[in-house]
Amino acid sequence: MSDNLADIARSLVAKGKGILAADESSPTCAKRFDLVGIECTEETRREYRELLLTTPEASQHMSGVIHFDETFWQSTDSQTFPEYLKSQNIIPGIKVDKGLIPLDKFEGEKISQGLDGLKERMDKYFESGARFAKWRSVIAIGDGIPTPQCIQANAFVLTRYAAICQAAGIVPIVEPEVLYDGTHTIDSCYETIIKVYDALFGSLREYRVDMSGVILKTSMVLPGKTSGISINYDEVAEKTVKALHEHLPQDLGGVVFLSGGQTSNDAFINLNRIAKLGPHPWGLTFSYSRALQDPVLKLWAKDRENKKAVQELFANQLRLAGAASLGELNESELHDNTEATKSQDL
Ligand code: 13P
Repeated sequence: MSDNLADIARSLVAKGKGILAADESSPTCAKRFDLVGIECTEETRREYRELLLTTPEASQHMSGVIHFDETFWQSTDSQTFPEYLKSQNIIPGIKVDKGLIPLDKFEGEKISQGLDGLKERMDKYFESGARFAKWRSVIAIGDGIPTPQCIQANAFVLTRYAAICQAAGIVPIVEPEVLYDGTHTIDSCYETIIKVYDALFGSLREYRVDMSGVILKTSMVLPGKTSGISINYDEVAEKTVKALHEHLPQDLGGVVFLSGGQTSNDAFINLNRIAKLGPHPWGLTFSYSRALQDPVLKLWAKDRENKKAVQELFANQLRLAGAASLGELNESELHDNTEATKSQDL
């Protein structure tokens, strides 16, 4: 595997492959385990992640895995998870932000934290096999928000993080998540997302970050989850692609989507329709947590001993997402549209 940042970014968004986000913090993991009646301990978290990572043939559709710090240092019976992934030609990644705190003086808005000591942490992760990282900021849409100050402050933090990653030889995934939660319209989501892209990419350029070694992790352009407006897949695809094509640099290393609390089916179909509107100037694929994992976690909770069935289900989720990333998903293959898990770090 090349250590060149642009090569790593290209491998992460290689055709038909995408990223598993398995970087839920321990409290978020506890919420998700709680919902399905599993006790959340260090060992059950390890056991569950091991099941996902060691799924046979996962590398066909999984280019990389994002870990939470605890999981990054955990092991199968013979190798650390990053060593195991590397042996499977899957790139190990690490979430490095330290969560969200209120943006003082801006009611209802948040800023991400974790820059202090970041270079030292990145050097340690690099030594132990990480070749990409993720940092999540959150932008909420509501009455009078987001403010330009919130967008700008988060863009700056993401930029500092990205520059530090690149200095450590690690590809930064910059994730300014525009929340699906809310009663806003799809147009208001579109307007917010393009402001966020403009601020973020303006700032990344200004601070001389190498775009070819950056991946954007973005929300899709959606009507708010509690707006009462149902998702029109073609409209989501058209508005998402318009925002991307008109506001992202051509030389960006890649684009990946979060699922953000959509059902698995919605997240797969929306990605499929977005991919169909290509060609796109960058590799474009999934970096899902809930959309890939929700049905898998439920099955595991029901039948802890049946490792084979759980891994087969996960492999199928990856296959569906991989097909969607190529615009080749047979949408009639999707079954019941189960309610997405609501728990996320807010
Ligand atoms: P979801 O796909 O569940 O939104 O998670 C992706 C992610 O990594 C959010 O930071």
